[in-house]
Amino acid sequence: MLNKIEKIKAELLDELKNIDSVEKAEEIRLKYFSRKGKFANLFEEFKQLPKEEKPKVGQFLNQVRGELTNLFEETHVSLKSSSKSMENYIDLTLPAKRQKIGTVHLLNQTLREIKDIFKSLGFSVYEGPELESDHFNFESLNFPPDHPARDMQDTFFVNPNFLLRTHTSPVQARLMQKTEPPIRAIIPGKVYRNEAISAKSYCLFHQVEGLYVDTDVTFAELFGTLVSFAKTFYGDDVKYRFRPSFFPFTEPSSEVDIWWEPKGKEGRWLEILGCGMVDPNVLEFNGIDSEKYTGYAFGLGIERMTMLKYGIDDIRVFFDNDKRFLEQF
Ligand code: PHE
Repeated sequence: MLNKIEKIKAELLDELKNIDSVEKAEEIRLKYFSRKGKFANLFEEFKQLPKEEKPKVGQFLNQVRGELTNLFEETHVSLKSSSKSMENYIDLTLPAKRQKIGTVHLLNQTLREIKDIFKSLGFSVYEGPELESDHFNFESLNFPPDHPARDMQDTFFVNPNFLLRTHTSPVQARLMQKTEPPIRAIIPGKVYRNEAISAKSYCLFHQVEGLYVDTDVTFAELFGTLVSFAKTFYGDDVKYRFRPSFFPFTEPSSEVDIWWEPKGKEGRWLEILGCGMVDPNVLEFNGIDSEKYTGYAFGLGIERMTMLKYGIDDIRVFFDNDKRFLEQF
């Protein structure tokens, strides 16, 4: 019996050496390892042996079968991964292909930074509709009926009563109408203007509105908040100036310019925001007692701020969606 086992072992080893296809491997499996295969037969024979011989033969048979099963499996697996008939074989241990993912749009990066700065100063973030009524966009903000900004030149009207908002300030009015002071909010969003498209202006851009209404809010606080914001955003050595200005909904009003000196070019002041103390008329119109409360408001232009920070000189690049530009940031 032991000789017989040796013989089958030698025979199988020989066959494994010459194995060259998955089909052949299957043949071998049937021939040796199946229920009617050679090893099964050997075990049948083993059962008939006299008791004294069983331990020795049994041990040997088990050992040989174990070794050869392992060897067969190894050969089988390496055959599978190299075989043409296994074209669809997937090796799950291989590292995955790297997916190219996009970058956060530069305007969104700026917006996130602005939000973080104001959140750290205690402001909450709100939003409002882009399709706005004439009432909120103009009337609630103290625009006289014949104000030039209402002109068809600047505003995209959808119908006589509705328009694409020309600034984020209407959300100030919305907030005042539904919230009791203190209100301390920033409102980011898209705004639309019917202007000729050029390096400096586009029909669409982004603003971040700010509104703070409470008892005893002062212009000094507005000044301090905006200076601290500018320093955090542009760095401590930023050069800024507050320039008197006019908005129907703030009094007094101001604009803030930042000094810009592109390499090799002459420096100049660039406006980044409008601001002022909320006009008492606006507080009253929107249901807030102007005897008790005062407030300040500001509106930042996100494109402008970004252009200044990164030295970009054409606003249109933000909307071209040219990956060569976007991937730089
Ligand atoms: N809404 C003004 C604009 O778009 C900016 C502004 C906001 C000015 C708030 C004062 C206060 O130009």
